Amino acid sequence: MRNFISTLDVPSISGLIQSGLECKQAPHSLRQLGANKTLGLIFLNPSLRTRISTQVAAKNLGMDTIVFNIDKDGWQLEFDEGAVMTGSTTEHIKEAAAVLGQYVNILGVRSFPTLTDREKDYSEYVINSFVKYSGVPVVSLESATLHPLQSLADLITIKESWTKKFTDDAPLFRKGLGSEGRKPKVVLTWAPHVKALPQAVPNSFAQWVNAWGGADFVITHPEGYELDAKFSKGATIIHNQDEALKQADFVYVKNWSSYQDYGKILNSDPSWMITNKKIALTNSGKAMHCLPVRRNLVIADEVLDGPQSIVVQQAGNRVWAAQAVLKSLLENS
Ligand code: CP
Repeated sequence: MRNFISTLDVPSISGLIQSGLECKQAPHSLRQLGANKTLGLIFLNPSLRTRISTQVAAKNLGMDTIVFNIDKDGWQLEFDEGAVMTGSTTEHIKEAAAVLGQYVNILGVRSFPTLTDREKDYSEYVINSFVKYSGVPVVSLESATLHPLQSLADLITIKESWTKKFTDDAPLFRKGLGSEGRKPKVVLTWAPHVKALPQAVPNSFAQWVNAWGGADFVITHPEGYELDAKFSKGATIIHNQDEALKQADFVYVKNWSSYQDYGKILNSDPSWMITNKKIALTNSGKAMHCLPVRRNLVIADEVLDGPQSIVVQQAGNRVWAAQAVLKSLLENS
């Protein structure tokens, strides 16, 4: 693996999930791998989980980390080829990325979309510019259209929870009542929000689940919230949320703004919020969310504070996702 931007960079999704689970079992077994290596984490937007989990992962591998909030502390970047820089931008990405590549061995970049220019956002010009000009492996810490470290952590969480269910339900399996041998039903559901949010998390989750092939995958959302088919193709799309949730083993909750009517909020129907009544439709389904989550708007307190929520386990697994990715990049460098 040379960079980590999407599933297209990953030779084996199952192999990377397994590697994450192994990192969780033995976090410090490869402390020499990253010795004398430096990870740079460049943020153009805020973060709690991505920032800290990636730092912990790097530390477990013996790496040093430098975090740079380039939006606040750096020069304003220019990305346009041939720009005459008489406006507010001070430094071109050609120099900025190349210079950062002189200082670090691996570069992580977080950059959200504008949500105003779909063509520009979906060209991924920001993260692709870092790849093009830095000269070092680049890890997406969430780009305009994808959030691969989140998706890898999500699949690690589904894999470990599903395996645990087999173990816990062993007596049922012996009586032929368990679900052993089948794929889990995973439902990605849109939920309401007061702000227009990127499509990066749902796009990425869809891309990873489809590429993994380890789930019976359903996406449910109101009409007008169709994701870019290049990510959702392979999933079953159902517009009736209650219908979609039936017998779900995992319910992945997320708001996103419209892709078709780009960046717009078309619907704020509160009946799409995930409540215990919605979870009751599932097969004791586990509720997932990438966080941060707005309580009682996206997911009700009763779900987040109840036994069906695995959102904290999911966030904890961000460390092992990041560690598996850094390990792979270090081994290949
Ligand atoms: N899920 C996620 O990426 O969280 P942060 O924005 O806090 O990093």
